[in-house]
Amino acid sequence: MRALFTVLKPLIFLTLLGYCPSMTIKPKEGWQVFSSAQDADGRCICTVVAPEQSLCSRDAKSRQLHQLLEKVQNISQSIEVLNLRTQRDFQYIMRMESQMKGLRSKFRQIEGNRRTLLTKNFQELKGKMDELQPLIPVLEQYKTDAKLISHFKGEIRNLSSVLLGIQEEIGAYDYEELQQRALTLEGRLRNCMSKLTCGKLMRITGPMTIKTSGTRFGAWMTDPQASPRINKVWYMDSYTNNKIVREYRSVADFVAGVESRTYNLPFHWAGTNHVVYNGSLYYNKYQSNIIVRYNFDSGRVVTQRALESAGFHNVYPYTWGGFSDIDLMADELGLWVVYATNQNAGNIVISKLDPLTLQVLKSWNTEYSKRNAGESFMICGTLYITNSHLTGAKVYYSYSTKTATYEYTDIPFHNQYFHMSMLDYNARDRALYGWNNGHQVLFNVTLFHVIKTDDDS
Ligand SMILES: *[C@@H]1O[C@H](CO)[C@@H](O)[C@H](O)[C@H]1NC(C)=O
Ligand SMILES: *[C@@H]1O[C@H](CO)[C@@H](O)[C@H](O)[C@H]1NC(C)=O
Ligand SMILES: *[C@@H]1O[C@H](CO)[C@@H](O)[C@H](O)[C@H]1NC(C)=O
Ligand SMILES: *[C@@H]1O[C@H](CO)[C@@H](O)[C@H](O)[C@H]1NC(C)=O
Repeated sequence: MRALFTVLKPLIFLTLLGYCPSMTIKPKEGWQVFSSAQDADGRCICTVVAPEQSLCSRDAKSRQLHQLLEKVQNISQSIEVLNLRTQRDFQYIMRMESQMKGLRSKFRQIEGNRRTLLTKNFQELKGKMDELQPLIPVLEQYKTDAKLISHFKGEIRNLSSVLLGIQEEIGAYDYEELQQRALTLEGRLRNCMSKLTCGKLMRITGPMTIKTSGTRFGAWMTDPQASPRINKVWYMDSYTNNKIVREYRSVADFVAGVESRTYNLPFHWAGTNHVVYNGSLYYNKYQSNIIVRYNFDSGRVVTQRALESAGFHNVYPYTWGGFSDIDLMADELGLWVVYATNQNAGNIVISKLDPLTLQVLKSWNTEYSKRNAGESFMICGTLYITNSHLTGAKVYYSYSTKTATYEYTDIPFHNQYFHMSMLDYNARDRALYGWNNGHQVLFNVTLFHVIKTDDDS
């Protein structure tokens, strides 16, 4: 069985909400996850409520507990930072605050026996840590935050082992109850985390006009592999007879026109289908089917390779022409190139590329004519093809490299300035970058997530 979820702006919200363990609680009111379903705006909310430590630092065990809770709190803060990046709008937290205050006072009202409670507390904490374990593989999928995630992994593993020690000291407790709670929590957390990962394109909103500059045709982009603090913009005006790449330190600098560096490429480019990936620019060399990898740090071409049998120089361009035969792009899964060959009758071929050697790792033949495609972009290993570069264009066809199957789709988008010469997905920003008739625009995407459950066969 598969559970289906939609998400607009994925948000995992782990909150530690305190209450004093020197008060009686029902087991269910220890560690728990509230409302893991999406809210009205499509955000995924996980509110984890944990026992408070501050009033209970009288003995060694309590201090230990205090430290552990602090760690969990640190992890949860990091997760919030992680999500600030993806959802850009934190208003929801404000609204949640009063809800949380209500819960806190509710817990405070409950009085009771201290001793059973302390034991209970460790049980809950241990249960919680067990429940965090399944997050590890899920977090692993969220590649763009690999560094933060490996930190979480270490923390979660460490906390679990520390808790195991405490558990031994404290002795027996109700395994059955713990197990049941672990199962429930695991399911909910997993659902929440899965929403951060790949999905199927459902909707395109926008565009938001970032800047108006350059000719009618061009490309602009950021590096999906860059660390979250770095948000350089690269700008490549025109589709031919140019080899100047402008770099800006941020989108704000780009809007203000404050350039930080200029690169003079050794070869002219063809088309507008370049991509910046992991510190290198990948582009199609003018009048050839050669792909060039230019490294920004060294300011040199580090690799060049011909894309065998690919049509070039307006043999198989997109509908608008402009030598847009060879389209380089990146998604969650890596680097790709989209083109057409005579062997595939001018229909689109998708190839996965090795980002270092530019060798083709694997190819898929579609039945969609490249000359009838307006643009194409890759999300999570699925290629989405628009049917025109003009007003009324929509995402008309999709091809999944996972299943090697295609689908006709009907996903409209607003072609605000009537001519689209570039449309590329950026996995880090979860946005489509577009060059819309001399306007640099951004579209938001809504992805539909298929969450695997244990029942999956
Ligand atoms: C939590 O983070 C703070 C600030 O980074 C750090 O000083 C503290 O030691 C961390 N606590 C634990 C238990 O890791
Ligand atoms: C795990 O945490 C404990 C207590 O904070 C610390 O002493 C230990 O070095 C940590 N182990 C690892 C592998 O990080
Ligand atoms: C995308 O969604 C975010 C969050 O709602 C919003 O702030 C931003 O303006 C949207 N961008 C576009 C291009 O619509
Ligand atoms: C990005 O480049 C660094 C070295 O610059 C390399 O270690 C890393 O594996 C690269 N990542 C990808 C996804 O290619």
